[in-house]
Amino acid sequence: MVTLTGEAAAHWRRLVAHQRPEWPGPAELGAVTDRLAALPPLVAPEESDTLTARLARAAEGKALLLQGGDCAERFDHLSAPAVHSTLRLLRQMAMILAYASELPVVTVGRMAGQYAKPRSRPTETVDGRTLPAYRGDAVNGIGFSPAERRPDPARLLRMYDASRTTLDLLRGYAHGGPGPRQLHQETLDFVADSPAGERYGALADRIGRALPRDGTRGTDSTYGGGAPAPTTEVFAGHEGLLLDYEAALTRRDPRSGRRYAGSGHLLWIGDRTRRLDGAHVAYFATVDNPIAVKLGPTATPGEALALVDRLDPERRPGRLTFIVRMGAHRVRYLLPELVEKVTATGAPVVWVCDPMHGNTFEAPGGQKTRRFGDILAELAGFFEVHRALGTHAGGLHVELTGADVTECVGGGAGLGFGDLHRRYESACDPRLNRGQALDLAFLAAEMFAARRGDAPAPPAPSGA
Ligand code: PEP
Ligand code: CO
Repeated sequence: MVTLTGEAAAHWRRLVAHQRPEWPGPAELGAVTDRLAALPPLVAPEESDTLTARLARAAEGKALLLQGGDCAERFDHLSAPAVHSTLRLLRQMAMILAYASELPVVTVGRMAGQYAKPRSRPTETVDGRTLPAYRGDAVNGIGFSPAERRPDPARLLRMYDASRTTLDLLRGYAHGGPGPRQLHQETLDFVADSPAGERYGALADRIGRALPRDGTRGTDSTYGGGAPAPTTEVFAGHEGLLLDYEAALTRRDPRSGRRYAGSGHLLWIGDRTRRLDGAHVAYFATVDNPIAVKLGPTATPGEALALVDRLDPERRPGRLTFIVRMGAHRVRYLLPELVEKVTATGAPVVWVCDPMHGNTFEAPGGQKTRRFGDILAELAGFFEVHRALGTHAGGLHVELTGADVTECVGGGAGLGFGDLHRRYESACDPRLNRGQALDLAFLAAEMFAARRGDAPAPPAPSGA
């Protein structure tokens, strides 16, 4: 729990904020952050506390985290159907994973705030012309012109509005969206059309037999066989990259005196901004939301231990999640020491696999892509490591969309390099499309079921 004086809470401002956009003069930025500071927070402290409590279960090995959505949300692509189709997909995946693992799945959209991107290069050169890199709709425009690429603080207000609209859609969907039977029917339709349908069919049938029959949304009933019922609860999270925005939306909760980032429930620190001497770690140490940190191949056990000390000094279960993204060929030798050393301190972190960001490469046609096989291989490696150490493989963080895009290759439908041009819409990294994401859910479900050490599924409830 963090209760800081104004002075301690502002310490991060004296440190280097890596990846901070080159905003124009302080007056322009200050006018925007003053406006943000006068607006209501987008999420309530008690919602963030609920997520911490859910994640505490994952830290104990009694729940899973499923996090998914766009690499970079776009203001112009925001629509009810787009948000709903991604939510639908996340809920279908959560149902499959919950049934197979017999664990509740905590679902967090990578949405309602995922508008800022760290870049490996500050500029982009096209046909001999060099301009600032696109840093996400919250910072500048994707069009390749000096006017578009100029960082514009007014975009932070659009980020706030777009995030609020997305959260409204998310909340409305929890109450009025499809129930588990309807979602399951869509899963069955996918299985019927899938080349791997035979492999997935048995699990899909068992889920169907175990679903609540009464048409409820399943919030307080249970599946047959001991698996938790599907739930409509969903949270929102994004990379907390833009500290000017995050700080302007940070509020003290009058009931408890504790400080919360009000921009989303779960915020994470990216692999490029997790430096121990940087502003991001210092800022996130001052708020009480659940926090995640991405750990890439350069992360050392010493850094992981220091991050635990800085971000979760009280060892509060659910407070800290490590999202590891090593790459399929590295996870088996890089992950064990991290998990071992952190576990040895008794720190209750949640370990989540991001099998996307360590597996990106350039396709022959020049597009950024990822192979479904690599994504699956990294996830399998992540499971193997946790199984060997007796620790909990706590979940999955993926870039995906409910739309039928062609950005990653492989998966059941066998997309190849020649398909990438057909529907490549990501503003940044390649996402799994709906079919690829459901493929991943079924194959991950096999890993989670194997984790329990039992092959046979629970019997169908009598009368089914
Ligand atoms: C991302 O999640 O889009 C991202 C940039 O990830 P990472 O910090 O792991 O590179
Ligand atoms: Co990405």
